[in-house]
Amino acid sequence: MDVCLYMSAPVKSAIAKPSKTLKGTVTAPGDKSISHRSIIFGAMAEGITEVTGLLRGEDILSTVRAMQAFGAEITEDENGKWQIEGVGANGFASPTGDVDCGNAGTGVRLIMGAAAGYAMTARFTGDASLSVRPMNRILDPLREMGVSADARTTEAGEPGRLPVTLKSNGALRPVEYRPPHASAQVKSAILLAGLNAQGTTTVIEPIATRDHTENMLRAFGVPVDNRSIANAAHISITGPAKLKATKIKVPGDPSSAAFPIIAALITPGSDIIVENVMMNPTRTGLFDTLNDMGAFLRADNFRKSGGETIADIHVKHSRLIGVTVPEDRAASMIDEYPVLAVAAAFATGKTIMNGIGELRVKESDRIAATAALLKANGVTVHETQDGMTVTGGEGKPPLGGGTVTTHHDHRIAMSALVLGLACQNPVKIDDASMIATSFPTFFDLMASLGAHIER
Ligand code: S3P
Repeated sequence: MDVCLYMSAPVKSAIAKPSKTLKGTVTAPGDKSISHRSIIFGAMAEGITEVTGLLRGEDILSTVRAMQAFGAEITEDENGKWQIEGVGANGFASPTGDVDCGNAGTGVRLIMGAAAGYAMTARFTGDASLSVRPMNRILDPLREMGVSADARTTEAGEPGRLPVTLKSNGALRPVEYRPPHASAQVKSAILLAGLNAQGTTTVIEPIATRDHTENMLRAFGVPVDNRSIANAAHISITGPAKLKATKIKVPGDPSSAAFPIIAALITPGSDIIVENVMMNPTRTGLFDTLNDMGAFLRADNFRKSGGETIADIHVKHSRLIGVTVPEDRAASMIDEYPVLAVAAAFATGKTIMNGIGELRVKESDRIAATAALLKANGVTVHETQDGMTVTGGEGKPPLGGGTVTTHHDHRIAMSALVLGLACQNPVKIDDASMIATSFPTFFDLMASLGAHIER
């Protein structure tokens, strides 16, 4: 059996200390989901795609290297404008070495979907975290479409893990597929494979997930049909379909904006503005939840950027009240639960978060990691298989003083540091290196607001 080897990034601890008021205006970094897609779609297209505002995070750089390995020419100029010369009619070539997708679940799953449509063979690997995440959720439908996929089974008997070797003859069958989990990554992998299948590929989605793939395919000239049948969206593309190069301006990431926003909500006296935040309704569940909790959160200056609506968000320190988060909101805030749980620790009463079992298969088991990060800092948390309940401190900030294990998870690392800004004592994390996967400017941006975080 294949043994999974990986190199760990150097461990760099960090500590967040109780901070005075946070003040100022910052700009949200480029959206991670849209950044991955712009590189992958550009690599598949005919012609030269230009991308501005791309997130320069490690995850995206892994995707850039992967697309170069499949034959796309990708360069960045001194002004941060990226040019991608896609493979077009030539299709993806078989890479000469392993395709290392680092920490990026979105990267590896979308790239496997895209690659499946071409006659090629490729072996995909990832870091410690990515190597234990489930891949059969995309490999099963890809196999149905005619791809051969050989994946590792862990010692605990869990199948479908990296390394994965994909072999395709480039002649795929279209499928109609209803994913068992609400997942934009699964939807996107199938639609990308479907681009090179003969006929109509449909993904059936009872709960809407982020729709960036559909929006961006249209921007690349591919018609995408979306019709509601029996309370489920049927999202279809008809292959073979060609992507035509375009220009993309990446809007700011609401999932990254969540960290300074919640830092300001819990740090007394704070008053900040986060500019350039994408307001796509498939991504704004956290803002709805914070509004329900009584947060001062005002979005204004709505405008269009790269086909998405963006706005500037004004946030002030607020007295929060605990809420029950509606389960059908989970998909629109799936990455924000760890930092929402931090906000909940400062609320009056309980915040109940259920229907979030998917968090157990993210960059870490985020239910367990979030509960542990809060407990280590004196917060009461009750964990269940598919949820957690946080009991707030009735106006008194949590004790803090704990050291948090981040499990190679950028969002656990940033959530813990945000917690430390408003606890009674500093909060330490064991490893800050993964923050660069999604938010390389996190430390500078937080420092510019007055946050006291040391590495
Ligand atoms: C993403 C989809 C979500 C999310 C991830 C980005 C995407 O994952 O957690 O960070 O860009 O499609 P799932 O599709 O697995 O829910």
